[in-house]
Amino acid sequence: MPDTIFTDVAVTQELRGSVLLLVVDNSSASMASVDVARELVTAIDAAESNRLVKTVLIVGTEASFIVSDDALELNILERFAVADLCGRIESSCKPVVIAIHGAALGSGLEIALAAHYRIAARGATFGFPEIRFGVLPGAGGTQRAPRLIGAGATLSLMLSGRRVDASEAFRLGLVDRVGESEHVIDEGLAYAQQLAVAHAPVRRTRDARCLADEETSKSEIAAARAETVKKSRGLVAPLMIVDCVEAALNLPFDEGLKLERKQFLDCVDSLQHAAHLHVFMAEREVLNAPETRSAQPRLIGSVGVIGGGTMGAGITVALLDAGLPVTMIERDEASLARGRAFVDRVYDGLIAKGRLTDAGKAAKLDRYRGFTSYDAITDVDVVIEAVFEDMGVKKAVFAELDRVCKPGAVLATNTSYLDIDEIAASISRPQEVVGLHFFSPANIMKLLEVVVPARVSADVVATAFDLAKKLRKVPVRAGVCDGFIGNRMLAVYRAAADHLMEDGASPYQIDKAVREFGFPMGPYQVIDLAGGDIGWATRKRRAATRNPNARYVQIPDRLCERSWFGQKTGRGFYRYEESKRDGVPDPEVEAIIDAERQRAAVTPRTFTDEQIVRRYMAAMINEGANVVQERIALRPLDVDVTLINGFGFPAYRGGPMHYADKVGLAALLADIREFEKENPLFWKPSPLLVELVERGATFASLNRTSQG
Ligand code: NAI
Repeated sequence: MPDTIFTDVAVTQELRGSVLLLVVDNSSASMASVDVARELVTAIDAAESNRLVKTVLIVGTEASFIVSDDALELNILERFAVADLCGRIESSCKPVVIAIHGAALGSGLEIALAAHYRIAARGATFGFPEIRFGVLPGAGGTQRAPRLIGAGATLSLMLSGRRVDASEAFRLGLVDRVGESEHVIDEGLAYAQQLAVAHAPVRRTRDARCLADEETSKSEIAAARAETVKKSRGLVAPLMIVDCVEAALNLPFDEGLKLERKQFLDCVDSLQHAAHLHVFMAEREVLNAPETRSAQPRLIGSVGVIGGGTMGAGITVALLDAGLPVTMIERDEASLARGRAFVDRVYDGLIAKGRLTDAGKAAKLDRYRGFTSYDAITDVDVVIEAVFEDMGVKKAVFAELDRVCKPGAVLATNTSYLDIDEIAASISRPQEVVGLHFFSPANIMKLLEVVVPARVSADVVATAFDLAKKLRKVPVRAGVCDGFIGNRMLAVYRAAADHLMEDGASPYQIDKAVREFGFPMGPYQVIDLAGGDIGWATRKRRAATRNPNARYVQIPDRLCERSWFGQKTGRGFYRYEESKRDGVPDPEVEAIIDAERQRAAVTPRTFTDEQIVRRYMAAMINEGANVVQERIALRPLDVDVTLINGFGFPAYRGGPMHYADKVGLAALLADIREFEKENPLFWKPSPLLVELVERGATFASLNRTSQG
């Protein structure tokens, strides 16, 4: 029997031969980590003065090593306690071995890096997720990792936040050994005993020499810096990570630690970190809808997809990727073949990029079947309709579904704008009808609006959320209205952009200002990418019902009349040279805009980029407030998650409603009232915004009050 020295809350100590085994019980919440860190420091202090101990072995037995992969874990106190622990482990005069099981992420990995020897159990994973929260590793990770695995490998891990498995960790040099099994205590003890027998010396990471090839390190850092400047526009933490890794090369260890701490504190204090935390919480909170609390999802064993066009094919790929069997229904053999070819093309693209093998594709397509008769879907659990955006066509499809589908089948529509209550009312089982609004490309875009019509049963909605989980999508509950949450807001802020364009800003300036705010593309680049004809068709459809007093900018119509639909026709707002995706400004477009200004009797004005962004954001936020007020979105956070996951809103700004709180709602309302003087119909302040300003409250306060 081993001697048990003492057992405490978080750390159990046992002397096994000459190895002091410290088992960390981190099964409780990550908040315990400060205590864990302190207990480990005390244990190492004691081990140093205990002559029976030759080697110390620290083992984490739970799914994550010592600390959890949780944003909450980034609290400063905890990080500092971990930093102290790292220093204490590293300075120990007896070798400290760490055996890792589960995930060693963030400060868990930083602790491991401070040990003298590291072994990973099979199945262990490693990574620095801090970047996803707008911060950097703050317990010495930026100084130790480069010394251990080099600047290039460190930057690739820290700047991506990606996880690596045990074998890659071994290849990189993050661990010295990978165990044969998942029995972390046995693996760790065997290794520690070997080291004890061999009188292995302490190896301090702070003295490791991986940066010795100065030239290579310098060029790796320079390459990462150039890439970061290009890719992480507007983000604070990535460049700070590069600076810290550079400091590991240029400064003594303790000086590097000081810089890291300063940068870490700056990040923690930043608006970007607050925004990332908000998004992290919001993406959890969206799962908490009334129906997911009150009802159990139905079983989803198989899915039918109606329509194999852009969306039907993308949805099919998403379903196949999630391991679900899919039956596609098209209206004739030629369309079915085209639908199948769409699916093939997606997988062939992945094969060409080396992300899928032929065998992998075959395995996925094994679950695919295609038919032109609805009788093939009598047994499926869920049907997703993605046919033309036309009420008559949709109703005809739903009549067929009503006829053939088994009782209890969930009948979903991917409509972008149509009234789902009307579709539901047209069949004998309206309680089974729900909206599942995917975004294009459906196999890639994370957002899934779950649109909840009046008569749907709660378990159908719960099933929609469950399907989103299976597809690894971010579901947001939306009410029925024209455009639901996202497209409804998009229509308004795009109109604001059109007004700016007619009033004097060029589409190129607007796109640039919006990109500089943090969107990957400006509104006119997006139109050119998606195809100007889509919006044109919608505008023509709505022409009869449009408010004749509302301002209507005709510039996009003028381009469409020339068949300038964007990238696919080589011209749109931009001109596209053969096979190039980046367009160049087009003087002819500018001439058309000028002519339209004259026709509309507008005297062009100049706008600064800041003025453009203010109007664009004010329009977006005002409509977001309307969407919340009308309960189309449950809370402001649902609007934030929608815009970030479906519309390119920069996550580091936390979404439009979070951003609005930071700007200040009173200032925002003052802007809107100013714009209202020019166009009272368009710039009508949302009653919710007015009310919040009167109460001195924030959108965030509504996130809190409506949870429960
Ligand atoms: P699409 O025109 O590419 O595809 C529609 C497909 O439906 C065609 O392949 C057509 O043959 C098939 N179809 C038509 N009637 C049919 C019937 N009775 N039975 C079986 N198949 C039939 O259209 P897209 O872009 O895929 O849009 C489909 C739906 O998804 C629309 O409701 C659209 O509003 C919505 N949507 C589109 C998005 C987009 O970005 N394209 C984004 C989100 C939703």
